[in-house]
Amino acid sequence: MQQDNGLVEFLKWYVESGVDEALGVDPLDRLAPKPASPAPAAAVQPAAGPKLATAERNAGTDRGGSAELVSREETARSAREAAATASSLSELRDALASFEGCALKKTAKNLVFADGNPAGPLMIIGEAPGGEEDRLGVPFVGPAGKLLDLMLDSIGLGRDRAYVTNILPWRPPGNRSPTDAEIAACLPFVKRHIELVAPKILILVGGTAAKTLLGKTQGIMRLRGHWYTYESGQTGPPIYARAILHPAYLLRTPAQKRETWLDLLEIKHKLIKIN
Ligand code: URA
Repeated sequence: MQQDNGLVEFLKWYVESGVDEALGVDPLDRLAPKPASPAPAAAVQPAAGPKLATAERNAGTDRGGSAELVSREETARSAREAAATASSLSELRDALASFEGCALKKTAKNLVFADGNPAGPLMIIGEAPGGEEDRLGVPFVGPAGKLLDLMLDSIGLGRDRAYVTNILPWRPPGNRSPTDAEIAACLPFVKRHIELVAPKILILVGGTAAKTLLGKTQGIMRLRGHWYTYESGQTGPPIYARAILHPAYLLRTPAQKRETWLDLLEIKHKLIKIN
């Protein structure tokens, strides 16, 4: 039928444009007739005046509305409580698996917790799993992960001496950037993860991991190239931290590999010095 052909062509166009994932849990019929519009807002405004009415209506629906802030704070509190009770990596993994405060869990196929050796000197933290990581439940196994492995090999470190995880343990649909709310919900688990692993050096891969864990607002281009100390909640010494360009970015911009090579050499020298 002509109409079906049109839809098939439309879907093909989506796929060719790179749209190959459903973004929601429930299907949405965008062709269904729209419900009748609600009555104009002016007709239901209370005597308090238009300004107050607008603020009240927006509470809970605006990104920065007070109801949303309260619910974000509640989510962060429940994440902190769940993370704090974990006294081992397997307990932390279980706590994350039963955490309901991040909606990404609903669209992801798998929880992507960590890979590598937690007793090694390096802990590497990326942004979020991609498609391949989501399918396998293992971080950094797609094209960016393969480049990360080559980068680690170049300084004599493989996953037998490095431990790899992400800020978010669930894939954002279509590999979109994580939202501030998603990061805030998962951050207590990341912080506990660092406490439990207690690495000698933290490598923060890409801008999201670097800004989140260093508490900075600058972009990765400014953050890379320097040493920082990360204050873990533990009583142990502060952890050396270094931000590097994300391998996914390096795949698109190979000219920047030189800068990353210099960062990797710095990390190698620091490890020799502190061992
Ligand atoms: N990019 C990341 O930041 N993490 C992964 O695990 C894969 C790709």
